[in-house]
Order: sequence, then structure tokens, then C-alpha cells
Amino acid sequence: MMLDAKSVELVKSTVPALKEKGLAITQVFYKRMFEQNPEVKPMFNMAKQASGAQPKALAMAVLAAAQNIENLGAIGNAVAKIAEVHCDCMVKEEHYPIVGKHLLWAIKEVLGEAATKEIIDAWAKAYDVIARVFIDVEKGVYAKRGILV
Ligand code: HEM
Repeated sequence: MMLDAKSVELVKSTVPALKEKGLAITQVFYKRMFEQNPEVKPMFNMAKQASGAQPKALAMAVLAAAQNIENLGAIGNAVAKIAEVHCDCMVKEEHYPIVGKHLLWAIKEVLGEAATKEIIDAWAKAYDVIARVFIDVEKGVYAKRGILV
């Protein structure tokens, strides 16, 4: 799946500002997700959440992927490693729209007035492309592990 050139441009132009505010994005993202979709909470390691050591990783990985949106193959090694962690936690296809929804909300909040409808739509499309890559790699990991999902 490819993203149109305009969306690529819009997404990439917002990555630096979002990276700068990575901590704010992460905090808004987890707070809302755990409030509105508490069913995913048990998957996450709350000790890591409390220490703040790891939670930025998820949101930052989405930003890194967005930066490489035209060539996601370039982050294939990172995707493979994250996919193993996801499969240890039983992350499934149905969870991706939940993360996407709250991450988009956090991006919107952090960008503030700069978050035009065009930019948010472009981010929604980019997230779907990135999520698809993870879902497909994770299907392969589950198959290799002999786990039916
Ligand atoms: C494209 C979307 C996603 C990206 C880029 C992403 C990225 C990451 C990264 C970088 C890590 C850290 C891996 C490590 O410790 O080495 C991680 C961990 C994790 N992710 Fe994701 N993730 C995504 C979607 C999801 C979804 C949909 C779920 C399920 C709700 C999820 C649940 C988790 C869990 C449970 C961990 C382990 C963290 C912990 O123990 O607290 N992720 N993810």
C-alpha cells in the first residue's frame, strides 16, 4: 500500500514538531487509551509506564516509521524486533485501530492549531500503512510460533 505524495509531504513536515513533543504525545496517548479502552491495559507493563523508561518507544516508533513512509523496508529490522515483542504480548490486528485512534488524537492535541483536517487525514492514512506492515509481519511471527490468531 502506498501513500499519495501530498500526504507523504504533510506527514513528513509535521514529524520534527511531533518528535520535539514526544513526551507530551506519549502522555496524552496512554492516558486516553487506558481510560477509553481499558481492555488493552493488561497488555502493557505498568512498571515500565511508571518509570517512564520505555513508554515513549511506541509513539516514537510511529514517528520514525512516518519519516520513512516511502521506504518502510529501511526500518525492517526494527519492525521485526518490535513484532517479536508485540507477539509476546499477544497484540492482534484488532488492536491497531485502538492505538491509531488515540495516537491521532494525541497528535492533534499536540500540534494544536497547526493540525488542519488535511494533516490529520494524512496522518490517519500514514498510520494505516504503518499498521498494515506490522500486522503482516506479526501474522508471520504467530504462524512461525504455531499460534492461531
Ligand atoms: C504501528 C503501531 C505500533 C508501533 C510502531 C509500536 C511500537 C512499539 C515499540 C517500539 C515497542 C517497544 C518494543 C521494545 O520494548 O523493544 C512496543 C511495545 C509494545 N507495544 Fe507496540 N507499537 C504499535 C502498535 C501497538 C498496538 C496496536 C498494541 C496493542 C494495543 C501495542 C502494544 C504494545 C505492548 C503491549 C508493548 C510492550 C510494552 C510494555 O511492556 O509496556 N503496540 N511497541
